[in-house]
Amino acid sequence: MLSTHSETGEIFMKYAIIGSGEIGTALARAFARKKIEVAVANSRGPTTLASLTEELGPNVVPQSVQDACKAEMIFLAVPFSAHQDVAKQFEQWNGKIVVDVTNTFHVAPEELGGLLSSEIVSQAFVGARLVKAFNHLPAAELGTNPSVKGQRQVVFVSSDDADASAAVSTVAAELGFAPVELGRLDEGGVPLHVVGGQPGGLLFQNLEKLG
Ligand SMILES: NC(=O)c1ccc[n+]([C@@H]2O[C@H](COP(=O)([O-])OP(=O)(O)OC[C@H]3O[C@@H](n4cnc5c(N)ncnc54)[C@H](OP(=O)(O)O)[C@@H]3O)[C@@H](O)[C@H]2O)c1
Repeated sequence: MLSTHSETGEIFMKYAIIGSGEIGTALARAFARKKIEVAVANSRGPTTLASLTEELGPNVVPQSVQDACKAEMIFLAVPFSAHQDVAKQFEQWNGKIVVDVTNTFHVAPEELGGLLSSEIVSQAFVGARLVKAFNHLPAAELGTNPSVKGQRQVVFVSSDDADASAAVSTVAAELGFAPVELGRLDEGGVPLHVVGGQPGGLLFQNLEKLG
């Protein structure tokens, strides 16, 4: 059942994915597998998501970017270069959790001005609580583990906001992953980034964890 606002009848979602490309689809698939409702949006509008939502079933709900931004937790699965455009399409980011799934393999290091890419994304989503997660695995590998029964695929989680980090870890666990919290972005989170054009040490690490 979709959540609705009791007075206005407006549909709002707890989770939304912005971007329906490779990694957005892999995330939507993970929600669909566990029958957890999630909105999905892309730049071309909800009608272009018909075949995806038909394939993944009723828990994956096509929305406009503006409506998807109303969710409590938004997975940003767009090219890094598009993050500002998404941020501008909504004004009430206060308190929302934005999960930064972007990577910057194709971004010149000087464009980042010495900052981590997630710090730049965080600046665009004013008032939101930014969490870096779900970016370290190629889309084709996300959700394909565990290969061994009883183990779960590790998802790394980093944020300057401990509560937001915990909330994303909870969702990751509900989706069947084993969250590993790394702490602050500029400390444990650094290896989740491309820095100086070089992938951090945790990118592409497809690990499994017992339990
Ligand atoms: N692919 C991977 O294996 C992988 C793994 C980890 C992280 N990442 C990172 O995740 C991000 C997405 O990668 P991807 O490979 O999934 O890219 P992709 O296949 O090219 O898909 C990008 C998606 O973003 C949407 N989009 C672009 N600009 C937008 C805007 N202004 N507003 C709303 N939606 C917008 C596109 O909409 P349309 O469909 O309408 O064009 C598309 O659905 C990148 O930052 C990438 O570095 C990718």
